[in-house]
Amino acid sequence: MLGNKAVNEKNHLEIAGCDVVLLADKLGTPLYVFDEALLRENMREYKKVFEERYPEVSIAFAGKAFLCSAMCRVLGQEGLWLDTVSGGEYYTALGSGFPMEQVLFHGNNKSPEEHSLVLKNGIGRWVIDSESELDLLIEEAQKYERGKLPVFFRITPGIDPHTHAFITTGKVDSKFGLPLMEGIALLVVQKALSCGYLDVKGIHCHIGSQIDTLEPFGKAIEVMVRFLAEVGEKTRCLLPELDLGGGLGVPYLDEDKGRFPSVESYAEIICGAVKENCQKYKVPLPHLFVEPGRSIGNTAGSTIYRVGTVKEIPGIKKYVAVDGGMADNPRPVLYDAKYQSLVGNRVLGGGKEKVSIVGKCCETGDVIIGDTELVPVMRGDVLVVEGTGAYNHSMASNYNMIPRPGVVFIREGKPVLVVRPESWYDLTRRDIIPDYLQEEGE
Ligand code: LLP
Repeated sequence: MLGNKAVNEKNHLEIAGCDVVLLADKLGTPLYVFDEALLRENMREYKKVFEERYPEVSIAFAGKAFLCSAMCRVLGQEGLWLDTVSGGEYYTALGSGFPMEQVLFHGNNKSPEEHSLVLKNGIGRWVIDSESELDLLIEEAQKYERGKLPVFFRITPGIDPHTHAFITTGKVDSKFGLPLMEGIALLVVQKALSCGYLDVKGIHCHIGSQIDTLEPFGKAIEVMVRFLAEVGEKTRCLLPELDLGGGLGVPYLDEDKGRFPSVESYAEIICGAVKENCQKYKVPLPHLFVEPGRSIGNTAGSTIYRVGTVKEIPGIKKYVAVDGGMADNPRPVLYDAKYQSLVGNRVLGGGKEKVSIVGKCCETGDVIIGDTELVPVMRGDVLVVEGTGAYNHSMASNYNMIPRPGVVFIREGKPVLVVRPESWYDLTRRDIIPDYLQEEGE
């Protein structure tokens, strides 16, 4: 089992002290469930292990992993920064009362509307992704009312983190960031420094996600610190901050628990490598930022489904269909991601059988777990898929016009609704029947 789960006397699964059967009965399924205490514990752990090892550090949660207004409140209370990547994420933070001077704004193609929203309401660090973005921003920053606009530059350090190709972002051939080759990044930083309207705080990189070894982080740090030194040498300006993105992988399966570095060993490597390279390249220690997403949210989240059809094809397979699927968890079909599950109303029991857990979408690839062993399952059972706290709610869609699930936080053993489930009404709320399609004479 992942996270803080237990089996009660009824043989039901409890998440953070809350019976999942009661949750399913009371709030309906599918439902994303977060253990709020574990979310906070993960945030505090990040702060603690970095602060113990490094003089100045900010932890910015990557909102793309999971974001809603209540999450912004929790992040604010825990003193984290927030990494946003769209006007929508930024708007969520703004509306929740999050301190906007602790928000980072990323994106490789920020829209004019996003530019004006962010410039109007203020930002902690704007992460410039390309020269064409810089050119626009120099114009706009002249009108920024809060002083010089604080910016980072996203650099592609040319490191391959050996994770899934779709979540590899720091290689030279990437849509993100400025390459170091042929002095491209240096020229862009120089341009920003000389324009007079930007407060160039530092540089940023994010090499990828779900990374299971620490070595690529060390390599990226060397490249980034070497570049800080080069900027210092060529411009006489020592940039005071370094943002190393996120990317620490987490186990999705019990058998993978030993395979991923702990947050503490990640901090040890990161802080050690920054210090070592700053000494080597003779630059002062920068204020450090990291942007964890998955490693804060994932284990704290689970999805609760209700089992519907159970179908056995003799000698071939038993299919267990739940009332959600690729619409609320597209990760198996996108990244071949693996999950584990439990029967929430009958956790322990002998006679396990092999089944495939599938969703209700009209698509053969709508498989949540291809092959798993479960206690015999029947219609009406509650099925819990673990480790869905990152990139599930945030990547959910309305494919097949399926309403997206709600989100609850379990706080002190009690469920608190933080995102209401969508209804069928929500699905057609934006539809317009134009005049020419209205029936005549109506
Ligand atoms: N910072 C930046 C600039 C990022 O692009 C990302 C993730 C993060 C931080 C957080 O990375 P994490 O600590 O969560 O690995 N949809 C994919 C993951 C895409 C990650 C994109 N960037 C998935 O479901 O696996």
